[in-house]
Amino acid sequence: MNAPVTTAMNGTPELSIGDREFAALAKLVHGESGIVLADAKKGLVVSRLARRLRDLGLRSFGEYCHLLQAEDGADERSKLISALTTNVTKFYREDHHFRSLEEQIFPALIARARGGDRIRIWSAGCSTGEEPYSIAMELLELCSDAAKLDIRILATDIDPQVLAVASTGQYTETASAGIPESRRARYTSLRNGRYEMSSALRELITFAPLNLVGQWPIRGPFDVIFCRNVVIYFDAATQERLWQRFAGLIPVGGHLFIGHSERLGRSAERFFTTTGITQYRRTHGSPDPTTGAS
Ligand SMILES: C[S@@+](CC[C@H](N)C(=O)[O-])C[C@H]1O[C@@H](n2cnc3c(N)ncnc32)[C@H](O)[C@@H]1O
Repeated sequence: MNAPVTTAMNGTPELSIGDREFAALAKLVHGESGIVLADAKKGLVVSRLARRLRDLGLRSFGEYCHLLQAEDGADERSKLISALTTNVTKFYREDHHFRSLEEQIFPALIARARGGDRIRIWSAGCSTGEEPYSIAMELLELCSDAAKLDIRILATDIDPQVLAVASTGQYTETASAGIPESRRARYTSLRNGRYEMSSALRELITFAPLNLVGQWPIRGPFDVIFCRNVVIYFDAATQERLWQRFAGLIPVGGHLFIGHSERLGRSAERFFTTTGITQYRRTHGSPDPTTGAS
């Protein structure tokens, strides 16, 4: 048995998490979100939750586990997931994906939209919104009247706290550093020391809570799905199910973008062809939308 991981809180007694409580937390987090908490994450779990326990007036992780497992613990379970998700993101992260949108993908989608088609783009695991706003900027670059067409971006995340930030559309100078100067000038304005996303960007995006390992209250199909730097925290089986669900929502010819350190599993590769770095086109096979099997 490992020594309990502890943390000191400004003059208050040290908090520690034992193996049993950590295993219970890890099981709960995996069940709720698909996120895997390896033993090596014990220190991180203690440091991220110490303040929450203190705010709740709890003295141990045992008490916290009771609270989480209670029938009315849904709200606290959501706060737990918010505390443990990694929300790091930035504008134009992996900028080659945005060049692909501009050069390879958007021209054809915009032509279809001008012909009356419905075009949908999904940023799944959008964190504080930098990803969908970057997508929207590239769209407006090529199609300034996008809002008048049936082109929309759905941006979802499991964590309501990051969605609240995304919905404000306001970013510090540091957070907005990745926005190319030309885009910054056209699509943002500086207000009270913060860069505010323009209404033209905002009207293209709908932010909504969605758990990727739960039910999806959404209607496809999606011509483009961005799900980047999200599944890296999931186990292989959860990743595999997710790729198959995406395959079921992307029509042949549609596109999937994943994070730089993520890979499609073998069964999902049946439905996609590589078109760039961690960029895929839906090509063949028809997965069953309920089981993910072809
Ligand atoms: C590292 S951020 C990635 C943000 C953005 N896609 C990017 O690449 O910059 C990962 C996001 O995935 C979200 N996430 C984790 N598990 C999730 C789940 N089960 N369902 C939906 N979102 C999830 C987290 O809340 C977090 O905001």
